[in-house]
Amino acid sequence: MTYQNYSLKQLQQIDAAHHLHPFTDHKELREVGSRIITHANGPFIYDSEGAEILDGMAGLWCVNIGYGRNELAEAAYTQMKELPYYNSFFKCSTPTPVLLSRKLAEIAPKHVNQVFYGSSGSEANDTALRLVRHYWALEGKPEKNRIISRKMAYHGSTVAGTSLGGMDAMHKQLGGAVPNIVHVMMPYAYELALPGESDHDFGLRAAKAVEDAILEAGADKVAAFIGEPVMGAGGVKIPPASYWPEVQRICRKYDVLLMLDEVITGYGRTGEWFAAQTFGIEPDTITTAKALTSGYQPLSALLVGDRIAATVVEKGGEFYHGYTYSGHPVACAVALKNLEIIENEGLVDRVRNETGPYFAKALQERIAGHDLVGEVRSIGLMGAIEIVKDKATKERFLPSGSAAVTVRDHAIGQGMMLRATGDTMILSPPLIWTRDTIDMACERIARALDLAQADLRKR
Ligand SMILES: Cc1ncc(COP(=O)(O)O)c(C=O)c1O
Repeated sequence: MTYQNYSLKQLQQIDAAHHLHPFTDHKELREVGSRIITHANGPFIYDSEGAEILDGMAGLWCVNIGYGRNELAEAAYTQMKELPYYNSFFKCSTPTPVLLSRKLAEIAPKHVNQVFYGSSGSEANDTALRLVRHYWALEGKPEKNRIISRKMAYHGSTVAGTSLGGMDAMHKQLGGAVPNIVHVMMPYAYELALPGESDHDFGLRAAKAVEDAILEAGADKVAAFIGEPVMGAGGVKIPPASYWPEVQRICRKYDVLLMLDEVITGYGRTGEWFAAQTFGIEPDTITTAKALTSGYQPLSALLVGDRIAATVVEKGGEFYHGYTYSGHPVACAVALKNLEIIENEGLVDRVRNETGPYFAKALQERIAGHDLVGEVRSIGLMGAIEIVKDKATKERFLPSGSAAVTVRDHAIGQGMMLRATGDTMILSPPLIWTRDTIDMACERIARALDLAQADLRKR
């Protein structure tokens, strides 16, 4: 790489001249210029000016084993030399996706034993949507094709991902979603629970919205319900314990498939390999990506339960779907090494038994009491901090989202990368974080909150 020969200004100018970024207001970006991240190590990222920033987002919910792992670079290098690419079409396969599929079947819930690969979470959700509709068609019920999702869900940015997701602004720009997808309320107690309603009761009420949507359409028209176990991009919304078992009960009652989108929660984040195990549910499909390779290579895996797989295999007929890079040998080699590291270092157990509980306690004890904070919540190593103007009434600052951006900007200034989504700060750090890293993060976040509070007061 020769980027060292370029100044920050030059890189920003070239970036502005030629590079359109995801989810970005380009007019705004051109006014400030991009922050150029040049390298990273362990839990830290470094920008072109040499600032060291603790990465509270694991890149974008993905770098679970942290940065600078030579083993993954070596796995990619070795595989590239041996076989950089061959496809999985036309009755061919290559060794690494074969072995990765067996490994995924081993760590997934017992009834999940088949894998379909892509390169992104969005692609995997496209596959999931196509597959469940294909399943019902094979079962002789092609009209059972409606999908129930939730408002504020994020399932990716392709046409299918956007349609499955529940983000109004994305739907508006799409200008015509995939038909037969409906969105029901999300299990977000902080804003949606009624006065005096317990978390338990709220969870049941949010699940009832799924049942209502099934009854409205008619169970014979509903293919599946899709949900993130914990809504991530929508603001780390953790459902009450009553929610998922009730959703599963409802799905079973009406013979509706259950699709879990674990693009964020997969591979250890909630303290189990998959959040399905954390919540004790048995989904028919599990969408995964991101931490499957810890972000070192683009790869997604749709994990498919035995019920769907049995029909697809037994009834036969071609599934007209797939990607050039389905089962990419290099990405799969990296994934195998990544899972080996997660296992050898006991990262999933560590999140469940040590860092997850410590993270929860640290957020409660050191962040929740701040004047700007309405609520903190976490599960495993993912957390949220609600930013409010008034703790008691939950009143927000206006315009919506502005206060969280102020907190985020101060956090980066304090060497802490956080994400702001709406009025919520979100955290999803690498699973290699220790108690010391959590302490460091809390100190930096607390300072950022103080600085933001001073700013917001002045306004
Ligand atoms: C739950 C969920 N599903 C799907 C996606 C889309 O994944 P990708 O950006 O790899 O297409 C994301 C991305 O953040 C996600 O959080």
